[in-house]
This record gives sequence, C-alpha cells and structure tokens, in this order.
Amino acid sequence: MPLVTTTEMFKKAYEGGYAIGAFNVNNMEIVQGITEACAETRSPVILQVSKGARAYANHTYLTKLVEAAVIENPELPIALHLDHGPDFETCKSCIDGGFTSVMIDGSSLPFEENVKLAKRVVEYAHDHGVVVEAELGTLAGIEDDVNVSAEDSSYTRPEEVEEFVARTGCDSLAIAIGTSHGAFKFKPGTKPQLRFDILEEVSKRLPGFPIVLHGSSSVPQEFVEMINTYGGAMPGAIGVPEDQLREAARMAVCKINIDSDLRLAMTGVVRKYFAEHPDHFDPRQYLKPARNSIKEMVKHKLINVLGCDGKF
Ligand code: G3H
Ligand code: 13P
Ligand code: ZN
Repeated sequence: MPLVTTTEMFKKAYEGGYAIGAFNVNNMEIVQGITEACAETRSPVILQVSKGARAYANHTYLTKLVEAAVIENPELPIALHLDHGPDFETCKSCIDGGFTSVMIDGSSLPFEENVKLAKRVVEYAHDHGVVVEAELGTLAGIEDDVNVSAEDSSYTRPEEVEEFVARTGCDSLAIAIGTSHGAFKFKPGTKPQLRFDILEEVSKRLPGFPIVLHGSSSVPQEFVEMINTYGGAMPGAIGVPEDQLREAARMAVCKINIDSDLRLAMTGVVRKYFAEHPDHFDPRQYLKPARNSIKEMVKHKLINVLGCDGKF
C-alpha cells in the first residue's frame, strides 16, 4: 500500500489502548531494522525524519529509502513524518516532498506565536492531505537544574490545550509530562516518574484526541553496559521506565517517539563487534549485527511497550 497518514492509525490506537511507534530514521540499516520488525509483528509504524536527518542523509535519499520499505513490505501501514519541524518552510518542503505527516515544533514560542505558526502549517498541510502534530509545553533537557517550580513551568498546562487545538486545527498534540530527549533523562538515584495527572487532565479536556510523547526512549541498560564495556563512556544513562510508557499507551497517548534507543542498540553492537574483530573493516560485517540489534529491540518495544503488534 502507499504511504498512509496517521489518522486511521491513531483512531484505532486510541480505541485499542495502544500506541504507534515513531522511530527516527537516518540510514538504510535503520529503516530496514525497524520495518522488518514491524512487518514480522504486524505493527503499523511511523518513520520519522528530523531536520538533522535531512541534513545528514538528504531528503531524496531518505524518502527513497522509505519508498523501498513500502515496496518491500506491501501490507505494512507506514506513515512518513517530519520530526520537530522548526519552521513553515521545512514543513512545506516535506509536505511538497511526499511526507504524509509533519510536526511543527513551536513549543519554545509564546502561546500566541505557537498558535499562529501551527495554524499556518495546518492550513497548508490539510490542503495537501497531510496531517500535523503540534506541541505545547517544553521537554526538560538533561542538564536542567531541577527545582520543582522550574520543572513545573516546562510541563504542558492542561488549561491551554483545548484553545490550542481548536485554534490551530492540529491533528495530534505533543505534550510535556516529564520525558526528555537523549540518553540521560533522569539524575542517577532519582525515581523516574511521568506526570500521569497532567496526561489524564489533558485527555479529559480533549476526549478522543491523539496525544504524542517525545523523548520516550527507555535507554536499555544492556546496551549502555555494552557501550561502556567496549570502550564507550556513558555512565548514568537512564531512560523512561517501560512500564510507564505502556501505561501512557493505554491512555490517550497514540504516538511514542523513540530515537536514542535505536542509536544505543546500534552503537553497542558495533563497539562490541570491533572489540571482538579488530581486523575486520567491511562495513557490511558490522552493520549487519547492528541492523539486527535494532530489529530485535524494536520488536520488543512493539510487543511489550507499545502494544501495537498484530494491529493490521
Ligand atoms: O528529538 C530529536 C530526535 O532524537 C532527532 O535527533 O535532531 O539529532 O536527528 P536529531
Ligand atoms: P529519545 O531521545 O528519547 O529517543 O526521543 C526521541 C524523540 O522524541 C524524537 O522526536
Ligand atoms: Zn522529539
């Protein structure tokens, strides 16, 4: 089937109490690892491309890789999404260039400017049959000095969501409930805890509306240990507990973004491979186990965290 939008995926996910995995793609092995896992488990998927991915791999290469995945997996529903679109022009370029979904990330702007920008993207996207994710609230970064009021100020304010969605016409909303980007999400020794109360309140105010979680890698410790054992240095890398992600997926969260875990799954295995085969220099030799590591990790997410296996 051709690329799909997320509309049908999210409707079924909301009703079924599961979430669709949104995985960042940057090269062929990542696209293959993810889509093989999805095809084998019959899980619909969102392949997402960041501004950085477009700068690294080029729009044409990425869309053609995704096109190849569509051809190779004719039954698999795939949406192609722009992750963290920084401005109208980038969103337009992706809409014109074959994406079926875009995110406009105006979360760092004042409310009125965020509304104005998102509305402009929505109008253009909807005219072209493309759906739009917008964001309210900013995700904490790893270096943030966490004192409660500073932390609170970055969470999504539930009292703003109805007006934001009504005025922008966006199709899904990313919210900040304590997740963050990268591999160092919580201070070692602290207890990671997402703000389910905010998610609950948002979903009461927007019944049936798909919510998105960014920064949702769980940072599997097996890969962190592999990296640290074989020459890396990532002490204290900690992610979102998988049981909390599963809980969010049962609620209004319909899209869960995962990128760092793909990087860890790939890097850990490549580091191990080089340590064990110092004389090898054929990229196919080390990228094959790296691709397989992504595939197995993604399968685990689809079945045990997102709950989206067997859904097509
Ligand atoms: O949220 C950001 C994603 O992990 C993409 O990261 O901008 O380095 O491609 P990137
Ligand atoms: P992670 O860094 O937790 O993988 O988050 C990825 C993300 O939100 C992409 O938009
Ligand atoms: Zn993100």
